[in-house]
Amino acid sequence: MRGDLPVPSFPLGGEAPVRRIGFGAMRLALGRSARGPEAGVAVLRRAVELGVNHIDTAGFYGAGDAGAHELIRRALAPYPEELVIATKVGPLFGAGLAPAGEARAGQLRGLVEDDLRRLGVDRLDLVHLRVGGLGPPGDEPVGDRFAALAELREEGLIRHLGVSHVSAAQLTEARSIAPVAAVQNAFHVHDQGDRAVLAACEEAGIAYVPYFPLGGGHPSIDLSRPAEVAARHGATPAQVALAWLLAVSPVTLPIPGTGSLAHLAENMAAAGLRLTPPTSPPSPPSRRRSGGRVPTSEMARHVRGRDGGRGRGRPRPRGDRGGLSQAAGVIRVAGDRAPPRGGTVTPDPRADFDHISAGYDPDPALSMSLHADAYTDPRWHEIDQRAIFARSWQWLCHVERLREPGAYVTGTVAGLPIVAVRDEAGALRAFYNVCKHRAHELLTGEGVRRSIVCPYHAWTFDLTGRLRRARHTAAMPGFDPSKVCLDQVRVTEFGGMAYVNLDPAAAPLREQAGGLEAEIIERAPDVAKLTLARRLTYDIAADWKTVVDNFLECYHCHVAHKDFVSLVDMSTYEVTTYGIYSSHMARAGQAGNSAYDVSGATVTEHAVWWLWPNTCLLRYPGRGNFMVLQIVPDGPGRTRETWDFYLETAEPTEAELDSVRYIDEVLQREDIALVESVQRGMRTPAFTQGKIVYDPGGRGLSEHAVHHFHGLVLDAYRRELAGDQRGTMPASSSSTRKPPD
Ligand code: FES
Ligand SMILES: [Fe+2]
Repeated sequence: MRGDLPVPSFPLGGEAPVRRIGFGAMRLALGRSARGPEAGVAVLRRAVELGVNHIDTAGFYGAGDAGAHELIRRALAPYPEELVIATKVGPLFGAGLAPAGEARAGQLRGLVEDDLRRLGVDRLDLVHLRVGGLGPPGDEPVGDRFAALAELREEGLIRHLGVSHVSAAQLTEARSIAPVAAVQNAFHVHDQGDRAVLAACEEAGIAYVPYFPLGGGHPSIDLSRPAEVAARHGATPAQVALAWLLAVSPVTLPIPGTGSLAHLAENMAAAGLRLTPPTSPPSPPSRRRSGGRVPTSEMARHVRGRDGGRGRGRPRPRGDRGGLSQAAGVIRVAGDRAPPRGGTVTPDPRADFDHISAGYDPDPALSMSLHADAYTDPRWHEIDQRAIFARSWQWLCHVERLREPGAYVTGTVAGLPIVAVRDEAGALRAFYNVCKHRAHELLTGEGVRRSIVCPYHAWTFDLTGRLRRARHTAAMPGFDPSKVCLDQVRVTEFGGMAYVNLDPAAAPLREQAGGLEAEIIERAPDVAKLTLARRLTYDIAADWKTVVDNFLECYHCHVAHKDFVSLVDMSTYEVTTYGIYSSHMARAGQAGNSAYDVSGATVTEHAVWWLWPNTCLLRYPGRGNFMVLQIVPDGPGRTRETWDFYLETAEPTEAELDSVRYIDEVLQREDIALVESVQRGMRTPAFTQGKIVYDPGGRGLSEHAVHHFHGLVLDAYRRELAGDQRGTMPASSSSTRKPPD
């Protein structure tokens, strides 16, 4: 059992992720565990330091300076951008907080305005309509009251709506009125009567917030019963109860409350508890959208690891040659395909390189594609991480996330944790997100901090990375905290985005790709002003290079994307390769297309760029918009994609929602099916490499940008296998071509 693990996230309302263990503030203000305002403020601040970004409160949780709202405001305002404060309205209370029935529809505005005022915000992140009294959910309609809250949402006073203490029928009714982002009902390991509502939430990707996750309601939890399981795992019974809630469904967001700092840390650590190692792990679907439905039964059988089921802890499909020991046992029988080998042993790097590059020619007209082993042999996956991802500029986020002093964003580059921070003087910095004491990761997610406090032993670094405080070290001879500093990583702002690079010797991005920035600013001058409106994520059963290959050519578009070719004027499609990027331009936005609604479009072109090695930047027809598709290796033969939509407003218009739907439900499905099929084909003895189709007159229908990419890959491999540590980007294989004419 480890208590130092990142908590998995859930996309609340399909938007910004909230961590799956939140914090319920009721106990800070009411009941035996309320220990006074000072203690409450300390617990709230510590909760946020530990990564909590979902805090539940209500106007009726206490009053005066000791009310939950007041404690939250005092502890946390100005609020971190990523923090979601959830409130609930419905019950009325009289003097001394005596219950006084339920608010009618007309009274809800006053309650919401009261929450806004007391929390000191212009808009509430999440407001639940709390239905009924203290008994089981009744069946009275929620219609008028929920519609009243929906109106306040339309006015912009509320971002997301939820319902609390509801039956399945009431949830259905509410959803017919307005989107429901969350349900709060009683549910815990010994009170599982609400399975129908939980299943409905899973089906619809709605957050299910089980209140009283550790008891405290009726029926209460018997913490002696998980004790035996807890003892086996070296955990506490409360941690077992929380881990069970996380495991029972991918949509549960428990909000344990406590007035104790020790219990708070214990609760957060439950995210790292693995209850029952699966003896026969279920095969995950090859592609899973965040928020997509995972059957409850699957989750109940299998408690996912600390990364929420992705990355290192994810069970692999049978037959996927995911691990090195497995790979070592696979024997190929046909063609020149060498049996894959385990580990990173390269007894003859030159032979390895020759094997992978045989058939490649600097002239695209004469060239074959990269050898299939580069896409399927786990050794090349490892080399990709070292030779390509640890040495290239990696997209991190839009500059909006790093604007104010103290703003930070964490990420992973080549499998290593990093964090970018705007320091107090306004300089953008990046570090390995690793404590210099004993290597704990320092920050999670994103937010705003005045200092960086390690969650393990609370070593405190300032925003320039210098160690400012290390508890109980003052009397230690020879230890000088001022000499300790976080390890820096290169970071830069470029074309409205922040990029990082682990290679200290890498040439500046602007030096490597200055023409790209100029093109972006010309085509999308508003890029830095746009704001994140949606993020889609995909897990794909294909090597990242297969995914990039597909992105870089439209030779397949007429065949595979019938709607896309009605949106884009393919006769104008031009693909041009430059040093480390390529551009893909066309007139687009034809009315009457079958892809999506372009009414009101001010952008009437398809302006797309690919930046070595894995960043795709896109501006599609519509209002002002910019999209970033990042293609990240996620183990051998696996890729994780994120597709971010930056728009003029955080709320997309109907036409923009239509374009998001098209990309998610049509274009991405089409492309993912293609690349997964290609990856399966690559694994067979029937394929080693194919002919690059180069048609100088074909403009958009030529594969010269794929060839350009393969040249850059081979450059990186050559440098790595030769042990070249200089980290610059040679261009010997890469073809820097003018547009075909
Ligand atoms: S590992 Fe960071 S303070 Fe100990
Ligand atoms: Fe495609």
